[in-house]
Amino acid sequence: MNSSDATAEDKILDSEVVSISKLYHENTKLHRDTGHLLAPKSDFSRAELRRMAKGYKKYPYAKTIKLPGEDTWPEGERGFDEIIKSRRSVRTFGETPVSLPELSKMLFQTFGITGEIPIPGGEGQPLRTAPSGGALFPAEIYLAVRNVDGLEKGLYHYQVSSHSLETLEKFDPTEKITEALCGQEYCEQAAVVFLISGFLARTKYKYGERGYRYVLLDIGHLAQNLYLSCTALDFGIMTTCGFFDDLVNALLKLDGDSETIMYAAFVGKQR
Ligand SMILES: Cc1cc2nc3c(=O)[nH]c(=O)nc-3n(C[C@H](O)[C@H](O)[C@H](O)COP(=O)(O)O)c2cc1C
Repeated sequence: MNSSDATAEDKILDSEVVSISKLYHENTKLHRDTGHLLAPKSDFSRAELRRMAKGYKKYPYAKTIKLPGEDTWPEGERGFDEIIKSRRSVRTFGETPVSLPELSKMLFQTFGITGEIPIPGGEGQPLRTAPSGGALFPAEIYLAVRNVDGLEKGLYHYQVSSHSLETLEKFDPTEKITEALCGQEYCEQAAVVFLISGFLARTKYKYGERGYRYVLLDIGHLAQNLYLSCTALDFGIMTTCGFFDDLVNALLKLDGDSETIMYAAFVGKQR
């Protein structure tokens, strides 16, 4: 076959073509003598530290819905030992809605603020229920809400510093979300679809290209929190990487460059 006739698939299968992931991995390794090739900035001014400490996003003009406080949250009946052993991915969702206190607890346990480290000359840097490289917290949580008691259907952003939801758009997201998530039938069954973005710029600012690894690792940490929280609250959850990145980004109005969709999960009562 003439090499110009090769399809994209042939090229990927051709072992002589260097894999992008291999290139990325090699070029973002730390080396004892040289650091890594695509080195990040190393010294930060106080002003830069202050700016980076704001590890969360805010939609200043969005209608905000305060999430119910801890006194309303349902008490878990099972202990940690039992919860971690019973965590599973669930693929059958029923019609029972999620209540706002349940959603509030889920969001807090996944990625809520639980502490602070002081920053010289500025606001403290919030700490969360999940760890994060450099405490930069590049993940942002968006919700496609279909069946939550007391919440209109639509798209929302979790505003962590005020533990509230910011309304991005009110509409039934089922059709759009099904299209963006490759036609998966769970989009028509789950009460809420969690859409988690990586704000790459936040972490790459400090760690350069290696920071991309940290964003993925960060999201893995908080996603397990979401799994365990759902298990404790007796909700089913299933994650998926089956989404058209550009469609989800367009739906959430993310630029797909400094911030992009990285993770999705369906949540609802198991049928
Ligand atoms: C990154 C990631 C992507 C996944 N994507 C899918 C998916 O698209 N469809 C699906 O049915 N399950 C998906 N899963 C769930 C896995 O199939 C599941 O975690 C695995 O089979 C282990 O089962 P368990 O979670 O019940 O222990 C995904 C899990 C992860 C961590």
